[in-house]
Amino acid sequence: GCGGGGTPAPTAPVEEIKIGLIAPLTGDVKTFGESVKNAFELAIEESGHKVGDFNIKYVIADDRNVATEAVNVADKLITQDKVSAIVGSVTSSCTIPISEVAQAAGVVVISPTATNPKVTVDGGKRKDYIFRACFIDPFQGTVAARFALDELGAKTAAVLFDQGNDYTIGLKDYFKEAFVAGGGQVVAEEAYAKTDTDFSAVLTRIAQLKPDVLFLPDYYQKVSLIGKQARDKGITATFLGGDGWDSPEIDWTAMDGGYFTNHYSPEDPRPEVKEWVDKYTAKYGQTPDALATLAYDATKLLLAAIEKAGSKDPAAIRDAMASIEGFQAVSGSISFDENGNPIKSAVILQIKDGAQKFVTIVNP
Ligand code: PHE
Repeated sequence: GCGGGGTPAPTAPVEEIKIGLIAPLTGDVKTFGESVKNAFELAIEESGHKVGDFNIKYVIADDRNVATEAVNVADKLITQDKVSAIVGSVTSSCTIPISEVAQAAGVVVISPTATNPKVTVDGGKRKDYIFRACFIDPFQGTVAARFALDELGAKTAAVLFDQGNDYTIGLKDYFKEAFVAGGGQVVAEEAYAKTDTDFSAVLTRIAQLKPDVLFLPDYYQKVSLIGKQARDKGITATFLGGDGWDSPEIDWTAMDGGYFTNHYSPEDPRPEVKEWVDKYTAKYGQTPDALATLAYDATKLLLAAIEKAGSKDPAAIRDAMASIEGFQAVSGSISFDENGNPIKSAVILQIKDGAQKFVTIVNP
């Protein structure tokens, strides 16, 4: 106009960066997906939907914890939505195939929670667009085995595992290796299928062996089913498991007394943990579990990498991510090793009287 000085200086149109989230929002591990989605959205909200000079646009997809569906939604995010990066997925069985698709397309992936080594490395070859915010299962299995030997005084263990699930197969193998190396004996190693619901034949056999520990490296729904049937068969072994137990929907009664390895404890006295627990609880009305915490950390890490890169080009984001060091995440300090894996502590929690109780922390 001609009113003098009324016209604002022209600003360049703000560019948009697209980020995808893949998580199991429905299906057998849906509490994992709910936590991850909550925390992802909280992190984006805190950023003011902005990173560097970009406005953030995000797309959320449900893989239902089904590997074929994970590939479908990853394909869609990459080819249709044209995301620069993906946060996800949660389970190793879904994240491994997603990592193949994203690596081939040159899109950055950071999984908050997938702990199997094959997520970032394939047959010894690093998939350099792929990262994670959690420790890996060789460490987790070793921590569980050492705890059984040193703290529980266990000499014998029985193990049940899902023969079609990368996470449970891997965790079983790493546990077994460390338990045997430490002088323990694995008296039974029994495979089942994801669709199995009746474990009585196997549990009858295991009851006769009287193992000190029953190791159950699977997700909350399945371990609850097995745990309940094991007690019904008179098995008195201490139940032991991994991060897959972390759900409000675990059978608190059947699993009472059991121990599991995990990524964080809300009882951790560090101030950043307390701040996180308070703000998540205020927004969602529940204490953040490890899944929420790692998803928050993974999303923040990705935003830090995008900011550092100053670009939405996935190759630049990948390089920026790889160069991040000592990132102060809620779950601990994060620097990536040459395989995109952070080196972090584990905690051991006990299921006791309807709650998770902090037992101990184990440093790498
Ligand atoms: N680590 C599990 C996997 O790789 C996923 C998981 C992480 C589940 C944390 C619960 C808590 O499949």
